[in-house]
Amino acid sequence: MDCLRDFMRRTPQCVTVVATYVDGVPHGMTVSSFTSVSLEPPLVVVALQRDTRTCQAILQSGRFSVNLLGEGQEAVSDIFAYAEHSRRFSQVGYTVKDGVYPVLDGVVAALFCRTVDIYGVGDHKLIVGEVAGCEIYSDELPLIYLQRRYYGVGAPKS
Ligand SMILES: Cc1cc2nc3c(=O)[nH]c(=O)nc-3n(C[C@H](O)[C@H](O)[C@H](O)COP(=O)(O)O)c2cc1C
Repeated sequence: MDCLRDFMRRTPQCVTVVATYVDGVPHGMTVSSFTSVSLEPPLVVVALQRDTRTCQAILQSGRFSVNLLGEGQEAVSDIFAYAEHSRRFSQVGYTVKDGVYPVLDGVVAALFCRTVDIYGVGDHKLIVGEVAGCEIYSDELPLIYLQRRYYGVGAPKS
């Protein structure tokens, strides 16, 4: 629906890379449809197009990390959105936490989630993750996606 696209383009989104690790291979993609849904228990949700390689890998592993990109990491966002799936992690430094959660170098923070619910909704899967861990790496401001362009947050209003 064109109006929905137009509406969403006008909605500022944070930019994350959602990732997992299956049989020694990292998988990940750029995701802006991330939000928290509950603090007690701690739950987040990501909406992944059901035919993406990363969605399939997360359905297999049952675990995923959410890497919050900093305002200088637009190139990382482009790599995880547009580069060939198998060539993404060779272009960005990363570590693997607890054998399953890829953490990209230079991100602001990362969440480590265990899948607890999956809903098929339209052409997406809503994947609900229980947060098993959270690490904050820096006070850098996050990268914002708006009107198909990247922005920094800008100065506070108050
Ligand atoms: C800023 C930005 C945000 C995105 N957010 C989402 C999202 O929330 N869900 C989704 O399914 N795809 C999203 N995408 C598109 C995926 O990153 C893209 O389709 C990716 O290539 C899928 O990777 P894979 O199929 O190799 O796993 C986004 C792309 C960009 C540039």
